[in-house]
Amino acid sequence: MPKTIIEPFRIKSVEPIRVTTREERLRLLEEAKLNVFKLRAEDVLLDWLTDSGTGAMSAEQWAAILRGDESYAGAPSFYRLQAVVREITGMPHLIPTHQGRAAEHVLFGAACKSGQIVPNNSHFDTTRANLEYLGVEALDLVIAEGLQPALIHPFKGNIDLARLEDLLQREGERIPFGMLTVTNNTGGGQPVSMANIRATSELLHRYGKPLVMDVCRFAENAMFIKQREPGYAEHTPMQIAQEMFGYADAATMSAKKDGMVNIGGFIVLRDERWLEPVQQMLILREGFPTYGGLAGRDLEALAVGLREGLNEDYLRYRLRTAEYLGEKLDALGIGFVKPTGGHAVYIDARTVLPEMPVAHYPAWALCNALYVEGGIRGVEVGSVMFGKRLADGSETYHSMELVRLAFPRRMYTQSHFDYAAEAIAEVRAMAASIRGVRIVKQPTRLRHFSCECEWLD
Ligand SMILES: Cc1ncc(COP(=O)(O)O)c(C=O)c1O
Repeated sequence: MPKTIIEPFRIKSVEPIRVTTREERLRLLEEAKLNVFKLRAEDVLLDWLTDSGTGAMSAEQWAAILRGDESYAGAPSFYRLQAVVREITGMPHLIPTHQGRAAEHVLFGAACKSGQIVPNNSHFDTTRANLEYLGVEALDLVIAEGLQPALIHPFKGNIDLARLEDLLQREGERIPFGMLTVTNNTGGGQPVSMANIRATSELLHRYGKPLVMDVCRFAENAMFIKQREPGYAEHTPMQIAQEMFGYADAATMSAKKDGMVNIGGFIVLRDERWLEPVQQMLILREGFPTYGGLAGRDLEALAVGLREGLNEDYLRYRLRTAEYLGEKLDALGIGFVKPTGGHAVYIDARTVLPEMPVAHYPAWALCNALYVEGGIRGVEVGSVMFGKRLADGSETYHSMELVRLAFPRRMYTQSHFDYAAEAIAEVRAMAASIRGVRIVKQPTRLRHFSCECEWLD
């Protein structure tokens, strides 16, 4: 059998991408205030800004869309989705939302209050922002290995159990629940082991605290467990996912990732402790409990997508995609978060721009260079995303300067990745001429989405 892991699908419908010149891209980026979020997608060649909601749906999902029932209350589409979610999670209460951050907003509003602390391996930016908005401290407790990009460890998304226990002992009263993000997006798309999920659940339960999992990429996490954790090689991704969910009391899901849909999310609850306030908030903010923030057709596409996202051939190809680009970067001597995560490659900008001070935002600078030189749109995961400008005008910086290239599901083929590796090599060759930026305008929260920048000379 040939060794190449192929895209396990044929292409049935195509979408052209537009080739632009370097001069055009430089002008477009400057018009976008040096912020790739402000570019028009049609001006991007390889759009690896995010894997969220950007993937291709299958023929079966499009077919399911026609079956969507748009009844306001009690649509069969809701019950079909509920059956799939119950099978995977074992949790009875499904609360659909329009996307992941809405699930966070609704659940956190019901489950926490100002002055509390919520520990996690690493909070995603919207998770952190939703907690901080409520006056809750969002604490990252990922293992030390998870903060060292070059270090190889099979489960760099694991939470540090000793620090979690210490926190529970010291601040137990202030902790409404603990969280685990699977896979750990901000930590490099790194998986959490089953042993760590189990131990986190046991530890939290010993202190009477529920475990809430952020499960956007639960299927990729399940496949990593199958490939890397002793004892799981013969399990199906579905069986592994079922065990993972078995340790949680609730979960928030952005279905735009492993739900394989373009929009959608949900909360699942094992018991009724937060059900009533969650449903009240849902009705206030999202919609009636059997559709949440979604149309019936979205619920149908998600019911099909959740199963497709657990398909083993798909997951093997999916994880191989990131690994393949990682191997090419390795050959070029470019640092990245190792081993490669599930949905993305996180380039360590410090290995490309070692001389650039952090105050010039090296990851942001690299991100801009990838667009100008190669038409590739990635996202900075560094001090623009996670740093802050304080009231006195000083800045806080993030511990890592990464550029995330996140891969939409079932969208790009191997030659796109070969092209990207060549473009990255060209950027590295001209690193000395890459300019940093200064932020000239920024909002108080989630500044990376909309800040405006200028070149530094
Ligand atoms: C780990 C994690 N949690 C939550 C979210 C928020 O989901 P959404 O973009 O659907 O609001 C994301 C989105 O990227 C994520 O990666």
